[in-house]
Amino acid sequence: MRTCVITGASSGIGRASAIMLSQTREYDNYALIGRNIKGLEETAQNMASDINVYIINADLSTPENLPHIVDEIAEKYGTIDCLLNIAGYTEPASIFSTTYENIQATYTINCFSPFILMRECAKYMKKKGGKILNIASTAGMSPRPGWVSYASSKAAMISISQTLTEELAEYGIKVYCISPGRCATNLRKKLAPDEDPSTIMQPEDVARIICNLIGEGGNCIDGQNIVVRQKIK
Ligand SMILES: NC(=O)c1ccc[n+]([C@@H]2O[C@H](COP(=O)([O-])OP(=O)(O)OC[C@H]3O[C@@H](n4cnc5c(N)ncnc54)[C@H](OP(=O)(O)O)[C@@H]3O)[C@@H](O)[C@H]2O)c1
Repeated sequence: MRTCVITGASSGIGRASAIMLSQTREYDNYALIGRNIKGLEETAQNMASDINVYIINADLSTPENLPHIVDEIAEKYGTIDCLLNIAGYTEPASIFSTTYENIQATYTINCFSPFILMRECAKYMKKKGGKILNIASTAGMSPRPGWVSYASSKAAMISISQTLTEELAEYGIKVYCISPGRCATNLRKKLAPDEDPSTIMQPEDVARIICNLIGEGGNCIDGQNIVVRQKIK
């Protein structure tokens, strides 16, 4: 029996990934972590019917409980084989209008909690190997005036992923990092409220890449930041 832990599965890219990955039968058990329980339940209803889903109500802006949550998942299912760190947060603001609370929340949800989840899940993966996938962003790769806390937190995620790829390789734990461009989700709406969502990538486009990496497609890839961008029409 193999277990996959997913954050951000209540909507957008995380939801599409959970649904698509469940159909590959790569994992038997799923733990979906988030605050929007209704959203997580809706995701679970659309996942393959012959897998187990454990819904966990947790707020990634308070990482203190995460070690306990990971232990609980491992106790329930016996193993942890995969972690998809997909949850993300943004409240775009320029340097003069941002607050310490905004910076702190952005870094906690986008970097610190994913880091704690990686550390705690890797403790279980160490025995048999495993896979970790983190979501950064193209915003972490080039300047984004007005998005400084979000963009810099995503740059940090690229670096964290690269370092942990090297650190965890000896245990057979692969670390992947993808940086999507514009994708039609609630988070994107916050960053670009006037954009027509039908003109950009859909969550399923990004989910397809994630499932590919987590499946055999990722066997000869790790560490490097993989850009996922809509092809130019
Ligand atoms: N859309 C894009 O253009 C784009 C581009 C590059 C990277 N990304 C990244 O892709 C990831 C997924 O975002 P999305 O675009 O699919 O947007 P989304 O639909 O708004 O999803 C964001 C997810 O993050 C979770 N989340 C936010 N704050 C949380 C908190 N405090 N505790 C627990 N979970 C929290 C939400 O879950 P709950 O509400 O259930 O808590 C939600 O499932 C993010 O990391 C984002 O930065 C998106």
